[in-house]
Amino acid sequence: MNVLVLRKVLVEQPEPHRGEGMQVVRVDLLAAGAEWLALRNRAFRDENPPVRPWTPADLHREFGPASRARDRVTWLARDVAAGPPAVCGAVSISLPRPASEAASLHWLMVDPDYRGRGIGSLLLGTAERHCWERGHRVLRLETHRGWEKAVRFYIRHEYQAGR
Ligand SMILES: CC(C)(COP(=O)(O)OP(=O)(O)OC[C@H]1O[C@@H](n2cnc3c(N)ncnc32)[C@H](O)[C@@H]1OP(=O)(O)O)[C@@H](O)C(=O)NCCC(=O)NCCS
Repeated sequence: MNVLVLRKVLVEQPEPHRGEGMQVVRVDLLAAGAEWLALRNRAFRDENPPVRPWTPADLHREFGPASRARDRVTWLARDVAAGPPAVCGAVSISLPRPASEAASLHWLMVDPDYRGRGIGSLLLGTAERHCWERGHRVLRLETHRGWEKAVRFYIRHEYQAGR
C-alpha cells in the first residue's frame, strides 16, 4: 500500500511561525485557481511517483461548489521580499463538524526554488493554529510513501502513522 496516512494530536497551541519576507494569506481557492494550479504543477513536477498536471477543469471538479471539498480553507505563501509578490507555497485544510473529528490537511506544497527555507513549516503551522483555534486537536493527512521529502518533513513535525 503506497498511501501513507499520518496523524498528529495537538497538545498545545502551535507557536506562530515567522517567515522572513513571506506573506501567508488566506484565499478563495477557486478565485486564486490559476496561481494555485501553476504552483501545484511546479511543486510536483519532479516527485516520484509523479502526479498528473491539473487543468482548471480538474480544479473545479475537485473543489467547485458541487464537490465535497467546498468548505476547504486555503492559504498561499507569497514572496514579498522583492518585486511583485510571487506565489511560492500553499496548504489547505478541511474542518469537519463536530470538532472532535480529525481535520484533514491537503496539498501542502512549496515551489522547488523555495524549499529548505522554512516555508513548508510556516504553512503547516498556519494550518495547525487554525485547527487549534477552532477546537480541532487531531490532524490527518494522506501522502505517498515515495515522496521522501514530504514524509521526512511530516515526521519531523511530529506526525505519526495512523488511520
Ligand atoms: C514537503 C515540502 C512541502 C516541504 O517544504 P519546505 O518549504 O522545503 O519545508 P521546510 O523548509 O520547512 O523544511 C524542509 C527542510 O529544510 C530545513 N529547513 C527549514 N528551515 C530552514 C532554514 N531556515 N534554513 C535551512 N534549512 C531549513 C528543515 O530542517 C527541513 O528538513 P527536513 O524536512 O528534511 O527535516 C516540500 O518539499 C514540497 O513541496 N514537496 C513536494 C510536494 C509534496 O510532496 N507535498 C506533500 C504532499 S502530501
